Amino acid sequence: MKVGVIMGGSSSEREVSLMTGQEMLANLDPVKYEGIAVEIGRLEELAEQVRDIDFALLALHGSYGEDGTVQAALEALGIPYSGSGVFSSHLCMDKHLSKQKLRAAGIATPDWLFLKGAENHLADEVQKLGYPVFVKPNTGGSSVGALPVTDEVSLLPAVQQALEWDSSVLVEQFIPGEEITCSILGGELLPVLGIRPRTTGWFDYEAKYQIGGAEEEVIELPEEIAAQVQTTALETYRLLKCGVYARIDMMLKDGIPYVLEANTLPGMTQTSLMPKSAAAAGIGFSQLLDRIIELSIR
Ligand code: DAL
Ligand code: MG
Repeated sequence: MKVGVIMGGSSSEREVSLMTGQEMLANLDPVKYEGIAVEIGRLEELAEQVRDIDFALLALHGSYGEDGTVQAALEALGIPYSGSGVFSSHLCMDKHLSKQKLRAAGIATPDWLFLKGAENHLADEVQKLGYPVFVKPNTGGSSVGALPVTDEVSLLPAVQQALEWDSSVLVEQFIPGEEITCSILGGELLPVLGIRPRTTGWFDYEAKYQIGGAEEEVIELPEEIAAQVQTTALETYRLLKCGVYARIDMMLKDGIPYVLEANTLPGMTQTSLMPKSAAAAGIGFSQLLDRIIELSIR
């Protein structure tokens, strides 16, 4: 089977996507699959580039890739692809929309403000939310354009910086707890990882992608809390209509898991979390890709 590994794209996570793509190509089982690198820019030439492949293994992250656009184009072209469908991909890429869904379903997620610009009374509203907060581009990823903000002085510059990456911005209450991440494969939870950034004190781009930038290890939780984390992760996955695989990021405080977001195309680089979770369950990278392909074709 000819598997086109679709990578690159034009989002702020293009470089991460190229790393994911290279890792996937290096680990595809050569007996079963012929891996073909398909590096795309924007979408215009996609039809031409995927003409000869049987299956599209998506190594894309961010807008025009993780957000349902490429998925819709592949649907139109009749080419099967990995992971979640168009709707779920779009929903999960939009943090504000997914948080609204989570809140309506009674799943804990930190309080937030959704901004289309540096609005009037912003400082007052954030004061009500309470510092520290995280300012993030609404549809970003890999912490590109995101910043922690501890006081009013740094608020506006952070919002303006985030607005350089996206037309809307999230100001999210910071939950001072343990950062954890739950990878799900075929509707089943893989071992939960706890994240401890080593470099800058928060899980920024450097901590995510520099080797040794963060300590990410299977976390041992008391039984009751582990069950709560598992339920929340699976409920989020189902609520947001994820398919095949996803990674749900959370903050855990006082036994309550607060969902930050669901990633429908989680990173698969050398330092990424999902391959580590899978390895802890005895699933090697090649096997992980194999499962993703099989589950996507089914
Ligand atoms: N957005 C990056 C790739 C991740 O979630 O792993
Ligand atoms: Mg993300």
